[in-house]
Amino acid sequence: MIPIVWIGAFLLLGTAANEVCYKDLGCFSDKPPWSGIPGRKLFGLPASPESMNISFLLFTRETGNLSQKLLYTEKSTVQNSYFSPLRKTRFVIHGFTSTGKYGWVVEMCLLLVKVENVNCIAVDWEDGAKCTYFTAASNIRVLGAVTAYLINTLAKAYHYSPSKIHLIGHSIGAHTAGEVGRRLRGISRQFSGIGRITGLDPAGIGFEGFPDMVRLDPSDAQFVDVIHTNAGKFPTIGFGMFNATGDLDFYPNGGRVMPGCDDKNTTLVETDFDTEMEGVGNCHHSRSHEYYRYSILFPGGFVAYPCESYESFQEGNCFPCPREGCPMMGHYADRFHNKLRNNNPKYFLDTAPKKPFTSWLYNISVKLSGMTGVKGEMDIAFQMKDGKTKEYQIGSGSLNQGQTYSKLISVEINPVKASRVEFIWHKKIFTSFWAKLGAERVRLVRGKDGHESFFCGSGTATHGVPQILTPC
Ligand SMILES: *[C@@H]1O[C@H](CO)[C@@H](O)[C@H](O)[C@H]1NC(C)=O
Ligand SMILES: *[C@@H]1O[C@H](CO)[C@@H](O)[C@H](O)[C@H]1NC(C)=O
Ligand SMILES: *[C@@H]1O[C@H](CO)[C@@H](O)[C@H](O)[C@H]1NC(C)=O
Ligand SMILES: *[C@@H]1O[C@H](CO)[C@@H](O)[C@H](O)[C@H]1NC(C)=O
Ligand SMILES: *[C@@H]1O[C@H](CO)[C@@H](O)[C@H](O)[C@H]1NC(C)=O
Repeated sequence: MIPIVWIGAFLLLGTAANEVCYKDLGCFSDKPPWSGIPGRKLFGLPASPESMNISFLLFTRETGNLSQKLLYTEKSTVQNSYFSPLRKTRFVIHGFTSTGKYGWVVEMCLLLVKVENVNCIAVDWEDGAKCTYFTAASNIRVLGAVTAYLINTLAKAYHYSPSKIHLIGHSIGAHTAGEVGRRLRGISRQFSGIGRITGLDPAGIGFEGFPDMVRLDPSDAQFVDVIHTNAGKFPTIGFGMFNATGDLDFYPNGGRVMPGCDDKNTTLVETDFDTEMEGVGNCHHSRSHEYYRYSILFPGGFVAYPCESYESFQEGNCFPCPREGCPMMGHYADRFHNKLRNNNPKYFLDTAPKKPFTSWLYNISVKLSGMTGVKGEMDIAFQMKDGKTKEYQIGSGSLNQGQTYSKLISVEINPVKASRVEFIWHKKIFTSFWAKLGAERVRLVRGKDGHESFFCGSGTATHGVPQILTPC
């Protein structure tokens, strides 16, 4: 059904440029690059702010679960709220077919307010986002203008600098943040624009490859960080952008498909395109805000490595972190002192498949003792205060005493907390029942800073029997 409407829109746009104007916001035309160019022909004029029912729901330490609604047209709603100009302000903006009334947007604000004393504003534009993708993606221009208007009101009423503002946007919400930033860039000599924008898997369709003006780009805020989780690059279909578009761009697990998301439909099939576009809960796409949420709680579990490509990262070419250190993906990305250097804007890391998604990258080497030519695989596990990790395979095939085996491993629990290391090996069917192997020494090199630690063991063990190593 929808394609017919699309063709209609296309014919209409082919005739003449249109314009729509809204009180306090100015006019919006459908001239290029907004529409009328290949790839953006299905974009139209944005709907009115009233029809989108835009709400700004303020959460602070005083409001608890019950937010206060701020109206951009009525300054008094801000003045009568718990908004404090002494605090930083974070805005959380949802994307296509989502909502800011409940769900991840509200949960993000509640968490932020819990861990830091900020104003957090959940931006709800559900009624402007529940239409077709291209209509929603056109509506973000008005949403951006309305949000910029509210920020201007704050600036005027409290002398509140936009540099104290951080916009967090998902999908087309990320480009909304870009639009807000563009509108506030150099609004006056005393203010130097929005402080920070975090783009959570910025939408690719209709944005990737188009001028900076229509999408999130590094000039939209003093600092722009981006998390790519469903980057579309042929033949993989995706909602997100593939190219770097911020000061720091993070590509967890390579940025295209996320572990733990078991949907199989990620390969491009022409006829699936409409379904994909209307798809609601794309797991890979949503991972970006989930990673962000857990990065607030576990900053050290999201260290990202500068690298040419994910393949090169996986091969170990970018291990450990360079002398100047590595940024942390997510909430604390702004702590990275080199964040504006922008000479290699791509950063890679692996995540765990399950919540809280944390992982710590280590180079683990095991020096074997025992026998030579033992066919099997060897694993290690870390013993923590409260149980042990899963087994990580370090080597397999023909195992020889005196030889050192090593592997880069993303450990799901911080190994710094390990009191002991367990070595265990598993034999192949035809391996002698009496074969024995042991780990003489296990060396751990931490990716974050190249720090080394060692665990030592003595003797050997038969297959399937753990050998315990202690720090040495
Ligand atoms: C907020 O809501 C959560 C669940 O939605 C509830 O567990 C909690 O008690 C509520 N807190 C307050 C202060 O109402
Ligand atoms: C906006 O909200 C009003 C009142 O809640 C509702 O009647 C209207 O249908 C909403 N608009 C849209 C586009 O959903
Ligand atoms: C992505 O970046 C590459 C390298 O900078 C560039 O050649 C390419 O045109 C970009 N693609 C899009 C769609 O912007
Ligand atoms: C993939 O898509 C096809 C048709 O589009 C559907 O029949 C199938 O159930 C989907 N598979 C999964 C795992 O969602
Ligand atoms: C891991 O450590 C081993 C043993 O010291 C070394 O040979 C290997 O190059 C290291 N790998 C990486 C990726 O640094």
